[in-house]
Order: sequence, then structure tokens, then C-alpha cells
Amino acid sequence: MKILVINGPNINMLGIREPGIYGKQTFADLLALLEDTAKELGVEMEQYQSNHEGDLVDKIQEAYQRFDGIVINPAAYTHTSVAILDALKAVGIPAVEVHISNVDAREPFRQVSYAGLYCEKTIKGQGLDGYRQAMVYLKERYALTL
Ligand code: DQA
Repeated sequence: MKILVINGPNINMLGIREPGIYGKQTFADLLALLEDTAKELGVEMEQYQSNHEGDLVDKIQEAYQRFDGIVINPAAYTHTSVAILDALKAVGIPAVEVHISNVDAREPFRQVSYAGLYCEKTIKGQGLDGYRQAMVYLKERYALTL
């Protein structure tokens, strides 16, 4: 099984950006957690982070027929990007949306998620562990299809 983990803008600033909201763990800590989780689950994992909407769309398109699951934190593009939603719909790969913070308890503009209209599941406010939970969900889902 192959899982693609996609992170949008400013996720590379984890540990530096608003630690009161996103915690003190760094982007490097997140990458280590993704690698460890992939090993534990016995799945292949590729991760991609970009601050550019079109690059995120390109990466989702490239996943077509190459990946069995997508974990995506579109970050600020969650609340604005129809293009990311359409790309997810185009490739048709099972996807889980992750937000490190509890977006429900934040500003009203964070209550809307375009990508979430496609994703099977949304994990919010669980910190970096949300990514692990999303990978576990996709692995279990994939096992059911075998
Ligand atoms: C975020 C929440 C978004 O509203 C915000 O723009 C982010 C990160 C999260 O992981 O909590 O950049 O997706």
C-alpha cells in the first residue's frame, strides 16, 4: 500500500509558527512521525509540502493510479481552494483531511473546508498525532478492499 501525505502552506514552519496553536513540535518531528508510522503499518509513504496551490494540485494529479490513499492538510487552502477539491475528486483516491489545530474552535472563516467535501474523514485538534490516525484509518480501509 502507498500513502501520499500532502501538507500546504506554512506547515514547514511548525515549531516556529504560533506554538500556542500548533505546538512546539517541528516540521522535522512531523516527518519523523510519518516515517515511523509508515514503518509500523508496513506501508510505503511519500510526503510533499508546498506553499503553492498549483504545486499541490500537480502533486495530487500525479498521484493518480500511483497511490492508494492520501492524507492531506491543505492548511490555509482548506478554506479557499476549489482547485484542490477538484483535484481530489479527479483522482478519486480515498483521502483523509487533517488539521493540527481544532479549527472548529477558531475564526469563522476556518469553519469552511473545500477539501473536506471530498475527504472521507476529517481529524482536527489532535496535534501531529492526527496524521498517524489518518494513516491508520487508510491502512484499515485498504485492508478491507483486499
Ligand atoms: C491548519 C488550520 C488552518 O486553518 C490554517 O490555515 C493552517 C493549519 C491546521 O493544521 O490546524 O495553516 O490546517
